[in-house]
Amino acid sequence: MTMYPLLRSALFTQDPEVIHDLALACLRHPVAARVLRSILPPAPFCPVTVCGIQFRNPVGLAAGFDKNAVALDAWAAMGFGFVEVGTVTPLPQHGNPKPRIHRFPAQRAIVNSMGFPNDGSDAVARRLEAPRDPAMPIGANLGKNRGTPIEDAAEDYAACLRRLYASADYFALNISSPNTPGLRHLQDAGAIRALLARVTSERDSLTAAAARKPILVKIAPDLDDEQIGQIVSAAQDAGADGLVATNTTTDHSALPNRIPLAGGLSGEPLLERSLHVVRTARARSDGALPIVGCGGVARREHFERMIEAGASLVQVYTGFVYEGPLIAHKLLRAS
Ligand SMILES: Cc1cc2nc3c(=O)[nH]c(=O)nc-3n(C[C@H](O)[C@H](O)[C@H](O)COP(=O)(O)O)c2cc1C
Repeated sequence: MTMYPLLRSALFTQDPEVIHDLALACLRHPVAARVLRSILPPAPFCPVTVCGIQFRNPVGLAAGFDKNAVALDAWAAMGFGFVEVGTVTPLPQHGNPKPRIHRFPAQRAIVNSMGFPNDGSDAVARRLEAPRDPAMPIGANLGKNRGTPIEDAAEDYAACLRRLYASADYFALNISSPNTPGLRHLQDAGAIRALLARVTSERDSLTAAAARKPILVKIAPDLDDEQIGQIVSAAQDAGADGLVATNTTTDHSALPNRIPLAGGLSGEPLLERSLHVVRTARARSDGALPIVGCGGVARREHFERMIEAGASLVQVYTGFVYEGPLIAHKLLRAS
């Protein structure tokens, strides 16, 4: 896999979404995980327990790559400690018009405007119900269908939670994608409280207190410190178990001046902002709210900084695109 830079140059000559779909079509094949296991060394074992869940290492695949939970064995074979599937919406939907993924290799960044294309909660739940590696926890990232009015959004999150509850290990409420109109308004303190009240009451109706599965809230990087503080207080008061920080940014200033693109920017230009959000959220919660750090992590040094900022777990998406299948190894192994 030191071959990856060569493979990447070939892959990067093609449309990003075509390559993404091709990669998943290969990785979902049962032979893929076996081949990966035979050619990759096992990832270092660095166990952590977060929100009561045991992880064999703290590096996860961020939401959006395997939206439909089709390649879980392959991610385990690459050494990821966990995978967040989704964003899953109650009903299947196609997402926004293509092209909707753009690469910026010089900045090691991506801009996407996907808009939650996914197979819907029923299909994803059925895939998660199939036998899978019990040592690799799965998070389900939940969203609302595009056609659901924002004032009814909580019902969509509750419906997804209900359908996926038995088959995922934790849940992340995605209220921070820039590609679903109005979604980020759910980050207002009052809206977060109302959303969490609905979703946690759904959880309580599904489970005994002893078996409660954690519910995290995924937030944007485009928040000032005051807003981060308000979100932390609202999330804590309303019973959230943790945060995922952060989603993509609407700030495209790191990109060269060109035709403006709709969508969220991910990758290395996001790192400093995500670190700041993690640090601030950590301080505002006095360390009481576990944080999954996400945004711009691609190298060991970034990973270490994310942990120092206060993250208990770290996720990657764009770093995987640029670094390839050994990213978990690279982040975990000091060298
Ligand atoms: C093409 C693409 C699709 C994404 N889809 C989702 C999604 O469906 N739900 C979500 O919560 N985040 C989604 N994300 C955001 C990532 O999970 C992550 O929060 C963000 O990209 C920052 O991490 P990174 O810099 O490691 O990519 C997506 C990102 C990309 C690049």
